[in-house]
Amino acid sequence: MADAPKEKTRPEKLDTDTPRPDTLEPVSPDTEKGVSPKADAPDRSDAAHDGDDREVVIQVRGLKNQFGSQVVHENLDLDVYRGEVLGIVGGSGTGKSVLLRSIVGLNTPAEGDIEVFGQNLRKLPDEQRRAVETRWGVLFQEGALFSGLTVAQNIQVPMREHLHLPQDLMDQIAAVKLGLVGLPQEAGAKFPSELSGGMKKRAGLARALALDPEIVFLDEPTAGLDPIGASAFDQLILQLKDTMGLTVFMVTHDLDSLHAICDRIAVLAEKRVLVEGSMKDMLKQDHPWIREYFHGPRARAATDAWGDKADEKAKAAR
Ligand SMILES: Nc1ncnc2c1ncn2[C@@H]1O[C@H](COP(=O)(O)OP(=O)(O)O)[C@@H](O)[C@H]1O
Ligand SMILES: [Mg+2]
Repeated sequence: MADAPKEKTRPEKLDTDTPRPDTLEPVSPDTEKGVSPKADAPDRSDAAHDGDDREVVIQVRGLKNQFGSQVVHENLDLDVYRGEVLGIVGGSGTGKSVLLRSIVGLNTPAEGDIEVFGQNLRKLPDEQRRAVETRWGVLFQEGALFSGLTVAQNIQVPMREHLHLPQDLMDQIAAVKLGLVGLPQEAGAKFPSELSGGMKKRAGLARALALDPEIVFLDEPTAGLDPIGASAFDQLILQLKDTMGLTVFMVTHDLDSLHAICDRIAVLAEKRVLVEGSMKDMLKQDHPWIREYFHGPRARAATDAWGDKADEKAKAAR
């Protein structure tokens, strides 16, 4: 089996951010900013709507990503609609994180067009690109909190980067965001190393929500959490989606999350989005990886637990 879904209870490397109080360096290169992709893609100004009445907020066409001789994506197309929770699944190393990073401009594709809110970020001048960047938030795979900053300071990083606000206002906003993700106010003064895995994920989410984004990108948000913590995190995402009208782009291995909160699923395989659709659509697929993933023993447990919910969701998505 190439890439069985991970056990939720198996701890992931959540504690890589050992305390470094003397530095403001990001723990993970994921948080690096300032990648300025080249402006050489053709214009696709007709791209905001795609023939039906749902608004396309992210449109990927003909994406190619290559590292040395390793082609990760080729001819990858994907649409993400406003207000949906889209689950991205695929075997380990199929390029889920690279796809996410390409969309948010941290990875420069070899070929293809990516538009977010109808704008091709590679073609935008710096200032306009930065303005678009304030309209999304990202929770990276390892949480990627700055270990030398408190949780409240972490939440304020995007505000410092993009807004000019007095400190007391930023403190107030950080307090609101803590409440939003279900963290106690005391957590604001803690360093990431003092938090549990679940609390770190919530703190990362609070930072992703700092600028009241329209889209949040989540890379394996429930990996490493115990089933109860994972389920609570799922419910939080669902609640935020409903109350804030968020669009959620979620890379996940978690079949429970797929059942519980995803409106649509896109499968990365063979270097592209091989299929996309509802859970019900996934269950009909014959592709070996997809069959193994959605019909394996863990899938059966998740499906039994959710019972008819998959059917209901499939209907609701129509
Ligand atoms: N910056 C990079 N340089 C070289 N190879 C990379 C880089 N980023 C990702 N890769 C490779 O691309 C493939 C896809 O990676 P990734 O998107 O992280 O997979 P996953 O689907 O597990 O998230 C992997 O083989 C990985 O080693
Ligand atoms: Mg990944």
